Amino acid sequence: MTAELRKTLPPYRIKVVEPIAFLSAEERQQALADAGYNPFNLRADQITIDLLSDSGTGATSDAQEAAAALGDESYAGARSWFRFRDEVHDLTGYPFILPVHQGRAGERVLFSSLLRPGQICLSNTHFDTTHANVVLAGAEARDLPCPEAADLDSAEPFKGNIDLDALERTLAGPDGSKVGLVLMTISNNGLGAQPVSMANLQATSQLCSRYQVPFFLDAARFAENAWLVHERESAYRDWTPRRIATQAFQYADGCVVSLKKDGLAAVGGFIGMHDQQLYAACEANLIATEGFSTYGGLAGHDLERLAQGLREVVDPAYLRSRAASTARMAELINAAGVDTVQPPGIHALYLNAGRLLPHLASEQFPGHSLACQLYLDGGIRCAELGSLYLGAMDENHRLVTPAPFELVRLAIPRRVYADTHLDYVAAVLADIAKNPERVSGYRIVSAPRLLRHFKVRLEQTTVTG
Ligand code: F0G
Repeated sequence: MTAELRKTLPPYRIKVVEPIAFLSAEERQQALADAGYNPFNLRADQITIDLLSDSGTGATSDAQEAAAALGDESYAGARSWFRFRDEVHDLTGYPFILPVHQGRAGERVLFSSLLRPGQICLSNTHFDTTHANVVLAGAEARDLPCPEAADLDSAEPFKGNIDLDALERTLAGPDGSKVGLVLMTISNNGLGAQPVSMANLQATSQLCSRYQVPFFLDAARFAENAWLVHERESAYRDWTPRRIATQAFQYADGCVVSLKKDGLAAVGGFIGMHDQQLYAACEANLIATEGFSTYGGLAGHDLERLAQGLREVVDPAYLRSRAASTARMAELINAAGVDTVQPPGIHALYLNAGRLLPHLASEQFPGHSLACQLYLDGGIRCAELGSLYLGAMDENHRLVTPAPFELVRLAIPRRVYADTHLDYVAAVLADIAKNPERVSGYRIVSAPRLLRHFKVRLEQTTVTG
């Protein structure tokens, strides 16, 4: 027992802390109403536990802050750039690396240099900004998730995989000549934080070389994916997460990475690749839009924090304890009668709100309703992944095609919350699960045409159940 506990202990203690807010139930009700019932509009100081995103929300280490003090802010050729570049090169093996201020900047620079209008980008699942940047480049973003992903409850270990049969059919079929890129998201954030296996990456790599299509990784959570490979894919049992990650990068021709996740810092990203011509095109674009190619919109101190963060994130003790913490939270939530996408990944849990709130039709946004209830009851902020975000609507904001599932994502910042914070979240959910009929539905009052979920305003509907 002690040995087991020791294995999953976080390998750090806390030196700097930040207060969190505890509002009364009336204050929370007022705050959410003022926010148009959209948690994106809440102020951070109105929130007790913030599970809106694991992006840029992690805690840095003493070693990262010490490195940051050495940040070299020279405009070009800063020492911090070379430290960062060498670290990324060691990890990925790519000879050409460009820094960017965050993942979506990398997507824009890469896609506008690589994709031509009318082309298709295939993926296991595009993340929303990735999808948007493919479309902005004039191309089509097409998702080919593996069939196992459709069963939220199954314990299949690699439900983040791409559907290899569909990929080959597309590459060999009439659309084959239009495919300009295959992009694998590791781990699969749009599909329940499910990992992608090394076998799937290797097979994708082989198909892409056979059909001469560039193969890139969207590797925001490369270390967490590597840990799940270590745990679930027997051939990699004896490999370190770092070695697995390096091998994954080597299967691809390049990558685009948001370092706001597994870079363990608040800001940053990079593009890496083998192709020198593509690099030159991206570099020109980067200099015009992000900054010179040795800083790409980042400060020297950011580059330093990231170089150190990239070392810390592949520590097996860190990854093991983070994975154990998420799995423990999933167990508590499931025991309380709330289903989550199985098996649990690492950076987030996805609640099956559609199943918990059968009295709410998709038109009343059960996922959003549950997210709002978590705030009203417990000051917990999170976001839905359901019909509000993914459904098709007419110009009067009426739902025309619901999303396949009504989910809520609880994203877990890195090194920020103790298990007791997460126990509290599970307890609030357990209370909701005891009396789910009291959860109100919502209807849209106003919404922008693009990226609806960020700025939509809603009101409560009367409870129908
Ligand atoms: N790719 C994936 C898989 C992501 O999850 C994200 C961001 C990005 C690209 C874009 O990176 O934010 O640095 O520009 N995901 C965050 C989230 C926002 O909450 O899942 P970015």
